[in-house]
Amino acid sequence: MFSSGFIQIAPYTQLLTHFRYFLNLRSGEGRYHSLILFRLSSPRDADMPSDEITKSQNANQLYAMESTCPHLGADMSHADIEEYESNVVAVCPWHRYDFDLRTGQSMFGLKACTYAVEVRADGGGEDTVWVEAPQDGQNWRLVELRPVSEEFSDPPPPPPLDIAQLSLSDPTKEDPVVPLENPPRTLMQWAVLILNTSHPTLKVERTRHAVHLYRTGQLTSIGNRASNAPTPPDIPPREEIYRKSTVDPVKAGKRKNRAGMLHALANIEQWAIDLAWDIMARFGSAYPDLPPAFFSDFTKMALDESKHFSLLTARLGALSPSTPYGSLPVHAGLWESARTTFSSLRARLAIIHLVHEARGLDVNPQTIARFSRAGDAESVSALEVIHADEVTHVTTGHRWFTWVCARDGVDPVSTFREEVRRGWRGDVKGPFNVEDREKAGMTREFYEDLRGEMEWEDSAPGEAAVEKKPDNKLEVAYERLMSVKKSVLHVLQS
Ligand code: FES
Repeated sequence: MFSSGFIQIAPYTQLLTHFRYFLNLRSGEGRYHSLILFRLSSPRDADMPSDEITKSQNANQLYAMESTCPHLGADMSHADIEEYESNVVAVCPWHRYDFDLRTGQSMFGLKACTYAVEVRADGGGEDTVWVEAPQDGQNWRLVELRPVSEEFSDPPPPPPLDIAQLSLSDPTKEDPVVPLENPPRTLMQWAVLILNTSHPTLKVERTRHAVHLYRTGQLTSIGNRASNAPTPPDIPPREEIYRKSTVDPVKAGKRKNRAGMLHALANIEQWAIDLAWDIMARFGSAYPDLPPAFFSDFTKMALDESKHFSLLTARLGALSPSTPYGSLPVHAGLWESARTTFSSLRARLAIIHLVHEARGLDVNPQTIARFSRAGDAESVSALEVIHADEVTHVTTGHRWFTWVCARDGVDPVSTFREEVRRGWRGDVKGPFNVEDREKAGMTREFYEDLRGEMEWEDSAPGEAAVEKKPDNKLEVAYERLMSVKKSVLHVLQS
């Protein structure tokens, strides 16, 4: 909701679990601003009776500023907050410039963009937090509100998941999270290292580590403009156990039991981690004008996908200890779409993030309902966390798709439809989760009555061929059979 230049954020009491929140705002014209809302420890936290707390006292504890540093674009979500005399400053994690949270002024001469925060009584008498709207657009709305990380939660979080819960081996005994030789020094080097990491748990550990280094200023270079930026692999390698059991996506999709579904979803999350790193590593160099916020958004996405993989494998381990991750066949369908979009950032964002990921928003509620009917409350809560995150991933796709369209001087809706016609096979299928798509910026005009016209090669619509090298006659025969089946499907669909 927006009103007289301010945007309604949330009831004040909902903002007491953490000390900082990430806000993503979108204007009616499709512009985005990402803000950090800082909450200092308030009088209410100090056990003062609530009837002695005034709205202005609460508002005095809240500050909002742009989430990227005006110096070189560091993510300010992990800035240190320092209070001295009557000033409160946020200290950037990269080069330690400090910015007054009221005025945005830095003693180094730069100025961060800050926003006024108000606490108002809503119709029901509850205190509600409002933030001043940015000036460069109209009809601003809040499209994402999330705590910055558990590190800043109140109370602090429990210790991280025990790896034994994931029913996976601990690879770090042999291969450390930070390689002993040539440890990565830039975000791009971390991206390529993680893409080349074949063990699923090590991929997760390295993602967590790299994002932590990046956010806390221990890694101050993105490295996408370097002439020697490393090149991402065409296909992220997989441990032998996962490659050997690679199957057709349609077969994998037919698994109906809960363990099979959790396993299949965990596999998708593994590829999704790679996709988040790949878009940074592959297009970072080709688009040197990409702002740091692009990398902040996609590192957040990589971290989310790692969290999803851990949640799903933990649930799989609890539900079905005899089928840990890696024991069932998997597919590599998502990567096929990554390969068809290697040469274009616009195509990558359209096909992976606004077709594949948006489709996830359509089907997740049905998946959650199935687990709910089975009385599996733990899996339901894990899947609900995942679904909420996936809405923000489509938002990220929409944000950067509109950015690249503005850069190229083209219309986002017609360009998206053209990219899908060129890079997708078959209909963009419904039924659509119109509400969650709309939250992410995907209005109906983007996707309704849309059909991909990509040439049929060796995959069915929305499917993908897995790179397989048949090494015996049986496999060759199977390949031929699949090829015939796909040709028949093609004829039937055309
Ligand atoms: S001080 Fe923030 S990026 Fe340099």
